[in-house]
Amino acid sequence: RMEIKKIACIGAGYVGGPTMSVIAQKNPGVQVTVVDLNKSRIEAWNAENLDELPVYEPGLDAVVAEARGRNLFFSTDVEGAIAEADMIFISVNTPTKTYGKGKGQAADLKFIELCARQIADVATSSKIIVEKSTIPVRTAATIKSILDHTGKGIQFHVLSNPEFLAEGTAIQDLHNPDRILIGGEDKGAIAALKSIYEAWVPSERIITTNLWSSELSKLVANAFLAQRVSSINSISELCEVTGANVDEVAHAIGQDSRIGSKFLKASVGFGGSCFQKDLLNLVYIARSYNLKSVADYWEQVILINDHQKTRFAEKIIQSMYNTVNGKKIAFMGWAFKKNTNDTRESAAIYVADHLLDEQAHIAVYDPKVQADQIYKDLDYLGTRTADENKELLSVTPDPYEAAQDAHGLAVLTEWDEFKDLDWKKIKDSMKKPAFIFDGRKLLDREKLEGLGFVYYAIGE
Ligand code: NAD
Ligand code: UDX
Repeated sequence: RMEIKKIACIGAGYVGGPTMSVIAQKNPGVQVTVVDLNKSRIEAWNAENLDELPVYEPGLDAVVAEARGRNLFFSTDVEGAIAEADMIFISVNTPTKTYGKGKGQAADLKFIELCARQIADVATSSKIIVEKSTIPVRTAATIKSILDHTGKGIQFHVLSNPEFLAEGTAIQDLHNPDRILIGGEDKGAIAALKSIYEAWVPSERIITTNLWSSELSKLVANAFLAQRVSSINSISELCEVTGANVDEVAHAIGQDSRIGSKFLKASVGFGGSCFQKDLLNLVYIARSYNLKSVADYWEQVILINDHQKTRFAEKIIQSMYNTVNGKKIAFMGWAFKKNTNDTRESAAIYVADHLLDEQAHIAVYDPKVQADQIYKDLDYLGTRTADENKELLSVTPDPYEAAQDAHGLAVLTEWDEFKDLDWKKIKDSMKKPAFIFDGRKLLDREKLEGLGFVYYAIGE
């Protein structure tokens, strides 16, 4: 049995940071070092003031406070950490390719390959390599091939151990996972990784499979979750024209234990760094094996999601007398979901882009997202220049200022605090008729209509 004394994790992002913090918290006898090339990110992980951690997750500060400096370290010394470790997690980003073959669909594995090469260069003792990143099925074969050609006679075992945490509930999910999935070939390596998790996860929740099942299961889990959201979102449009209410439909079908009640909340569309990327990846893999029907089936999940974002923006324009030119629209929320500062693929970005094309003025309030991130998200689309984006869109730390003199207000993120805003004050400060477009079905229709708002919510 291989004993793990030192763990390294390459990649200190939304997954590497929180995951390793919990592994260190629960395994005080194991030294865990998280490394990243991004110096400012590592500095932020080492910040004395825990409000400055680079990832905002409820409860993360307490875990870091407990373990950091004891057996949890954040560093830019990638080579040093690799050299010392018995077990190395690869938790780098695997974004959608933006160039060449598979552009816009395939996963870009250059960071994964760089990690494998760096491990091959630096290692002088045998190691267990754990794929934590989400990767296309059969990536372990690539990693293994690179590691097997070092010519140093060192043994490497490659395991797949996908991460299922959701942002905003990362610590809760890590502390109490539905399951831990470990794919691999070598029994000793699997047992070594299992023992790390057994420090807090009941053994029966640790599933072991072959490498390919584990790699593929991650893509499939995200595809199924996203599919539920697109399914209910497609029904939301049907509800709007038939008098059915999508929340009532979701509740009615969710009570069937075969369907289940989770992930049936209609919305302005799913966002986040995973769903779209992993669906595209799955579609690309299916196409690459010539499985056209399979690819088309899963692609539809993305197309419905795009449709939902467009539909929401068009609903805003159409309701406001078919023009938003020069009108101010307040955005409540920019993050892709509540309780995170992550904005990757957030529906807000695409809805804003659509409205800005119509020359609307947007004022954004989000409790956790910084202004420079919001501009970065818009500029990245390349629809207009950075100066034009700055001119048309403003960001404010005060929700009431965002709503002041606005013709309309759109809820893009389901932050709890929005429910408790002083909606009377907001109504009084807005232009009339004061429109609300609730992309999250967060607010209370009766109350808002009582105050005199014109209220639209998805799927009603
Ligand atoms: P991220 O972009 O937040 O973090 C990745 C980090 O890796 C970055 O800080 C980057 O600087 C670093 N990095 C890249 N190449 C490196 C190298 N060669 N050496 C050292 N550092 C390097 O990404 P993330 O959201 O943490 O996602 C990481 C992986 O986990 C992805 O494959 C993703 O699909 C998967 N995943 C993400 C989530 C999520 O909720 N974000 C959940 C499950 C799985
Ligand atoms: C997802 C998976 O849930 C997680 O297991 C995986 O590890 C990473 O990808 P994440 O993207 O962080 O997690 O958040 P998630 O809660 O899944 O939400 C994704 C998007 O779907 C968000 O924009 C959310 O608002 C939206 N969503 C989710 C809905 O619109 N309706 C729902 O019912 C659920």
